[in-house]
Amino acid sequence: RPVRRCGASLASNYSRQTSEIADMDWENLGFGIVQTDYMYIAKCGTDGNFTEGETVPFGPIALNPSSGVLNYGQGLFEGLKAYRKPDGSILLFRPEENALRMQTGAERMCMPAPSVEQFVDAVKQTVLANKRWVPPTGKGSLYLRPLLMGSGAVLGLAPAPEYTFLIFVSPVGNYFKEGLAPINLIVEDKFHRATPGGTGSVKTIGNYASVLMAQKIAKEKGYSDVLYLDAVHKKYLEEVSSCNIFVVKGNVISTPAIKGTILPGITRKSIIDVAVSKGFQVEERLVSVDELLDADEVFCTGTAVVVSPVGSITYQGKRVEYGHQSVGVVSQQLYTSLTSLQMGQTEDWMGWTMQL
Ligand code: COI
Repeated sequence: RPVRRCGASLASNYSRQTSEIADMDWENLGFGIVQTDYMYIAKCGTDGNFTEGETVPFGPIALNPSSGVLNYGQGLFEGLKAYRKPDGSILLFRPEENALRMQTGAERMCMPAPSVEQFVDAVKQTVLANKRWVPPTGKGSLYLRPLLMGSGAVLGLAPAPEYTFLIFVSPVGNYFKEGLAPINLIVEDKFHRATPGGTGSVKTIGNYASVLMAQKIAKEKGYSDVLYLDAVHKKYLEEVSSCNIFVVKGNVISTPAIKGTILPGITRKSIIDVAVSKGFQVEERLVSVDELLDADEVFCTGTAVVVSPVGSITYQGKRVEYGHQSVGVVSQQLYTSLTSLQMGQTEDWMGWTMQL
């Protein structure tokens, strides 16, 4: 694979990479990083205003060893996807929702945030600059990873004096190695993902580092991922390491309410609206771990995981199975409704997509 130097001219960057795109195995995309052509960068100093921002060749960035993000974890990330429509054009899914969530997270982490307009414009620029990396229709999507970080130098604990807003992208397929097959979860009873008053409801980078240990142990035991319980009662469902959770019983679909420790997923919110429009009763409330015992179906939602059916959940040594290891009817219906809209295969009856 040719080495790419940051700062190379845009034209030579493109031609050096033409062989790589020809070699892409679009049939077998997983959720790994594929180096693409360009990334977007804007900076913000103490005046709180972001520079205009530009797309530059993808490559390493220089960070002060004393930066706020490296020393004190002052950083946020987002995740959203671009899909190629059957006619070749590109669709973004609800990018303004990511912009708003970044603003909420930035406030919690004492950081300035780009305006919704700048965020969406940056997303569009980044996708267009990397448009040849958007997978063919039906083969996956281009995952965008916006980052907001305290890039200025600090030593004492304080907000950084400078911030970097960056977006990089990677073509992706299924998040879990199981593909679209049901995943197997284990309920975690030692570690917690979030605590009341903490940062569980924002997409700060530290929330994700802190689940790695539980996830590693679960994977070593053969589980796909970990389902967390609330830290106070150790009884109510919270979420999975990288996604929200839903429990189906008859016509009722329940999911933990957003109450400070749950990440307000954009796929979560979209699935709730799709389910209501299909006639389901959706309840956002405390969902007890005991309810897993007699649920008909369980599924996870997230930008990366989309809608992922759960085949089994193990709690305190007891394993409950759903749907004989095949996708449940409700999970399948909601998956199809959402993804056909995201991919532009049906009319956008929710008004959620943005065409590029
Ligand atoms: C996403 O679903 O986009 C996320 O940010 C979760 C991440 C751990 C992959």
